[in-house]
Amino acid sequence: MEKEIIRIDGVSKVYRVGDVTFYGLKRIDMTIYRGDFIAIMGPSGSGKTTLLNIIGLLDRPSSGRVFIDGIDVSALNDRQLARIRNIKLGFVFQYFNLINRLTVLENIEMPLVARGIPKNKRIELAKEALIRVGGELSWLLKKPLQLSGGQQQKVAIARAIVGSPEIVLADEPTGNLDRASAKTVINTFTELNKYGHTIIVVTHDPEVANCTRKIFMIRDGVVVDIRIPEVDKCILKM
Ligand SMILES: Nc1ncnc2c1ncn2[C@@H]1O[C@H](COP(=O)(O)OP(=O)(O)OP(=O)(O)O)[C@@H](O)[C@H]1O
Ligand SMILES: [Mg+2]
Repeated sequence: MEKEIIRIDGVSKVYRVGDVTFYGLKRIDMTIYRGDFIAIMGPSGSGKTTLLNIIGLLDRPSSGRVFIDGIDVSALNDRQLARIRNIKLGFVFQYFNLINRLTVLENIEMPLVARGIPKNKRIELAKEALIRVGGELSWLLKKPLQLSGGQQQKVAIARAIVGSPEIVLADEPTGNLDRASAKTVINTFTELNKYGHTIIVVTHDPEVANCTRKIFMIRDGVVVDIRIPEVDKCILKM
């Protein structure tokens, strides 16, 4: 039987801007199973990033509950949340979010530093992760801005997976990439998924969404449809 890894239970996010209250998410329910490969699609402003940030414990819901591996995370304090984020979750962002004054190696190592893993082991794991995403070891001592956008995104994905998180969350990971780099990114996610990682990708791109195994369509803060991807329209087949 499929085992659930994430459950979103009646989650709302309310924003108050001046006198106006407004729902970023409206009582969303969602279950994600271990080993799933999910796309979240929807128009701009529909709540995709808000939802991903709540799943990723970067933001808290206004109401409703979030369970990660059966743990009700609403009961946890910021330190406990940070720990779960570090151990279970890896993040990939549209604008890479690398730290430009650090080297590529130091960027990739970062989640391991927080875990107290010794330097030698960190370097070994960072190299492994970079190779796994199709990067090159010659980048390790460079600064991110000395790399192209596609190369920076590979570094960002290496950082996301270096600690072998069970769940990888990616917000428009191909939004700033050309088709070839986008293909590499999706290929990497597909490989990670084969090894059992649960992957959740927010995307505007149907050629990306069609490479996943389930597409949640979001509009105005609610899930309006769940679709089965059309595999022959996956970017990897193009
Ligand atoms: N901190 C905030 N304060 C007020 N409103 C916010 C805040 N963050 C998001 N919103 C609003 O919540 C809604 C959902 O935003 P969200 O960023 O989740 O959309 P999105 O689906 O990711 O859009 P895009 O595709 O453009 O990235 C938007 O209308 C946005 O303006
Ligand atoms: Mg967004």
